[in-house]
Amino acid sequence: MQILSVSSLKGGVGKTSVTMGLASSALNSGVSTLVIDLDPHADATTGLSVSRGAGREAGQLLKEARKASLSDHVVRSGWLDLLEDPGSAARLDVVVGSALSATFDRPDIRPRDMKRLKTLLQGVSGYELVLVDCPPSLSGLTRIAWAASHQVLLVAEPSLFSVAGTERTMRAIKMFSNEFAPQLTQAGVVVNRARADSAEHEYRLLEMERLYQDKLMLPVLEENPHWQQIQGAAYPVHQWPGDQVRDMAKSFDELLKQLVPAKTLKK
Ligand SMILES: Nc1ncnc2c1ncn2[C@@H]1O[C@H](COP(=O)(O)OP(=O)(O)O)[C@@H](O)[C@H]1O
Ligand SMILES: [Mg+2]
Repeated sequence: MQILSVSSLKGGVGKTSVTMGLASSALNSGVSTLVIDLDPHADATTGLSVSRGAGREAGQLLKEARKASLSDHVVRSGWLDLLEDPGSAARLDVVVGSALSATFDRPDIRPRDMKRLKTLLQGVSGYELVLVDCPPSLSGLTRIAWAASHQVLLVAEPSLFSVAGTERTMRAIKMFSNEFAPQLTQAGVVVNRARADSAEHEYRLLEMERLYQDKLMLPVLEENPHWQQIQGAAYPVHQWPGDQVRDMAKSFDELLKQLVPAKTLKK
């Protein structure tokens, strides 16, 4: 079971979008997946077509970490109902997000509180991939996610502040893994919302290549005019019609291939 946190210091760069895209690719590739929505805004929950309040929320489960069984409270993603043959599809479940988890999002979180998700995941089996959609800060919830994860996937936009924020986050991951989570490594940096016609983006991409070297993951995800509509409709990108979107789905397939062992990809 590969546990992957999707993180960034900044909001709005595409953490939830990347989580959704990878979940859609996993579903399409037969990889059984659990998405944990740790962001109090609960956008991943909505995007995966699960209604808030459908299962016990992440915040409540974190509170009850020592006695709760996470597997009893996961909710099946509504994406499965959009497939022709949901019965033969891989599992796609969600731990529902809610504002309740914000109580753990303190900068001074205690080390024993940091282990709460790790404790919850110890009793979980039956998934090949766990994606944790993090809030946009390095506060308590992100630390809770990192302490439970094998890898952190960073999301960045090709802009000055995003590049600076990603460098800070990379340093924070190193410090965190030295101090609290020796198992934690950086999966890489995914660049999102790149525009081929932007000279500034081109410049920032070159800068990112130089700074991150082999940690820069390819392909870069482009700004896509259909993306908000797809998310608004709570649809998996692999099921959305149209060529422009198909390229985006393929990009997520390429990224997923680099994140999970080849044997987990059934299709
Ligand atoms: N590649 C993209 N093309 C177009 N819009 C995008 C793309 N990625 C993200 N967005 C939009 O940008 C907004 C922020 O993305 P989101 O994934 O919610 O970021 P985060 O989770 O980091 O806050 C959303 O409205 C989303 O639909
Ligand atoms: Mg988000």
